[in-house]
Amino acid sequence: MKSQAPALSVRDLKVIYQDQAGPVTALSIPVLNVSPGSLLAITGPSGSGKSTFLYAIAGLLRPSQGEVTWGGRILQTMPETIRDHWRRHTIGFVFQDFHLMPELSPLANVLLPASFENLSVSRALKERALMLLEGFGVPYKRASVVDLSRGEQQRVALARALLFDPPVLLADEPTASLDALAGEQVAQTLEDLSKQEGRTVIVVSHDPALINRIGTRFVLERGQARPAASMELVR
Ligand SMILES: Nc1ncnc2c1ncn2[C@@H]1O[C@H](COP(=O)(O)OP(=O)(O)OP(=O)(O)O)[C@@H](O)[C@H]1O
Ligand SMILES: [Mg+2]
Repeated sequence: MKSQAPALSVRDLKVIYQDQAGPVTALSIPVLNVSPGSLLAITGPSGSGKSTFLYAIAGLLRPSQGEVTWGGRILQTMPETIRDHWRRHTIGFVFQDFHLMPELSPLANVLLPASFENLSVSRALKERALMLLEGFGVPYKRASVVDLSRGEQQRVALARALLFDPPVLLADEPTASLDALAGEQVAQTLEDLSKQEGRTVIVVSHDPALINRIGTRFVLERGQARPAASMELVR
């Protein structure tokens, strides 16, 4: 890992969507502090705001109100291009629906974040991408990710999230498409990324096999965190 994980601090965070019937508060978190290197699971019913929470703390979604701070940097006051660059190198994000490019190979999908940086892909970066794909057991020589199973696609998404060796990993249902064995392997990987390597890993999941490995958890219900509205989550 290139740099130490930054602490996460959330203040007065609200995400409000305009519905036909009026405004709907999808997320409301008054205070949340997560210390560097934490391994944290978020559960809750469908529609309770879990993906919205991950988008908001990654700076992929502008909250209606409040602040998200990573290592003292307030996302809401960072200029967009600087925030995008910062995110690529700080936060690996595994999307619930993968966000893979169907016309590209597994390797090209993993290397995609480098193309957003206008970086020519160095040999070292390509080797890292291949090492990640091999490590996750993905048949990476296929011409297109469309030819992969959903579970294999899920692991391509995880490999891509780790391309730049980010100190933070946010993963939205990362074992939902995996069978028990593959799910166990990914769960172990996520645990190691935090416990062995010191990354902050925040996982949204319904998978008991994954959640049961993670000591620190909170539940989102209708956008509100339980057990506490004000939380200090330490390693
Ligand atoms: N762009 C949007 N416009 C309006 N409402 C939205 C929008 N995005 C999300 N919502 C609503 O916000 C709420 C939270 O959605 P979110 O996707 O965060 O839930 P979730 O907990 O991740 O659900 P799931 O477990 O099904 O993935 C839902 O009621 C959803 O319909
Ligand atoms: Mg979701």
